[in-house]
Amino acid sequence: MRRYHVTTFGCQMNAHDSERIKGMLEELGLGEAPSQQDADVVVFNTCTIREKPDTKFAAYMGEAAARKRERPGTVIAVGGCYAEAQRERLFSLYPDVDVAFGPGTIPHLAEWLGAGGFGVSRGAWGTADERTFAAGLPMHNERRFQAWVQISMGCNSTCSYCIVPAVRGREVSRRPGDVLAEVGRLAAEGVKEVTLLGQNVNSYGRDLQTDFASLLRAVDRVEGIARIRFTSPHPKDFRREVIEAMADCDAVCEHAHLPLQSGSTRILKAMRRTYSRERYVRLATEMRDAIPDLALGTDIIVGFPGETEDDFRETLEVVEEVGFDSAFTFVYSPRHGTDAAAMPDQVPDEVKRDRIERLVELVQRIAAERNATRIGRVEEVLVEGPSRTDPSLMRGRTRRNTTVNFTGDGSPGELVDVAIERATSTTLAGAAVRARQAVSAARS
Ligand code: 5AD
Ligand code: SF4
Repeated sequence: MRRYHVTTFGCQMNAHDSERIKGMLEELGLGEAPSQQDADVVVFNTCTIREKPDTKFAAYMGEAAARKRERPGTVIAVGGCYAEAQRERLFSLYPDVDVAFGPGTIPHLAEWLGAGGFGVSRGAWGTADERTFAAGLPMHNERRFQAWVQISMGCNSTCSYCIVPAVRGREVSRRPGDVLAEVGRLAAEGVKEVTLLGQNVNSYGRDLQTDFASLLRAVDRVEGIARIRFTSPHPKDFRREVIEAMADCDAVCEHAHLPLQSGSTRILKAMRRTYSRERYVRLATEMRDAIPDLALGTDIIVGFPGETEDDFRETLEVVEEVGFDSAFTFVYSPRHGTDAAAMPDQVPDEVKRDRIERLVELVQRIAAERNATRIGRVEEVLVEGPSRTDPSLMRGRTRRNTTVNFTGDGSPGELVDVAIERATSTTLAGAAVRARQAVSAARS
């Protein structure tokens, strides 16, 4: 049997797309290889949000190319955002690539791969009008009880640092009926947690005369789905209706990812985020007031062109003021073709490094303090499997999206109550007190 291997870079949308790529390859009769080295069809699903994933891909690609020289029958397929950004250039940069495809042309991969018994056709990109949801493809689901559900593709924002709108195109919403049918199918298969995915989930439905709040309420009504998450929202579109839906819907988790990017209104303007520091803080406060126990995560960029020490201090102030439960922190990385890459006053690397270190330190201190307040509580945990660091422990996540390692029983997919005993900035530790379902079964 011919075997494939998929390496995924980047965000959850790519992880979702990779499951579809795997599903499609399995339909073509291929089996999954344990590593890139063992595969006849090597697939890379790339990311280009910052320079780092580009260089990481280059290293993986180097290995694959060397291997192909030893085994000329190997097929190399490259998809995702880096492929889309490079387009035809990809084949001259990496002459060993056989097939290339963009995030919107995944459904064509089978055809391009299968065309001449694998590897003879060189892919193309199709126009933006031809983009198709990968969601319609067969799925290879890694965890049977958790699933990603794509609700839109593309992004209509014009953040000056971001390459995504250029590679993923204009926003198109998936029909609510299609989303709900998929969630219903997943629930019937035993899925307990769904994460609704889009580049900007809050602007969902504008092209279909519906909205994200209505979709959340409809997904909440699907029998069997215990947890609903979503990512990523844009603060500019986080409307009152969505906050109310989060507060009302039992299955919607007390967690939101709310990318701040910068705490300086001047920098936010240069980033074209369309909100001010004050508006962001007001929104965070409104959300915390409406949704008891809400955990807030964020993304922050340091070293955007023109960012002064004072601008950066404002970011630190907002981090302190909002008190994020978690944060992804990034050093600004100029992306070819974006407006910010051409701005004057690019910040020197050593200044960026100094700022990211100070930011990470603050983020970790606050997250640790916030996690420490969970000690002594009992949290509902969806069990994912054995702990990554200690196989004698189990691992799962709380509704607030914190990883918990715990002692006691629990099988993957089960909801267990865990008494929290210890906390770090990123994880909790505790002991299972009882299985949730067993309790409700005993009651009924
Ligand atoms: N440089 C650094 N970080 C970036 N992000 C997006 N573009 C860039 C860039 N050019 C960050 C943002 C976004 C997250 C997914 O990646 O914080 O929210
Ligand atoms: Fe990377 Fe952005 Fe593409 Fe996701 S959408 S893979 S983060 S470039």
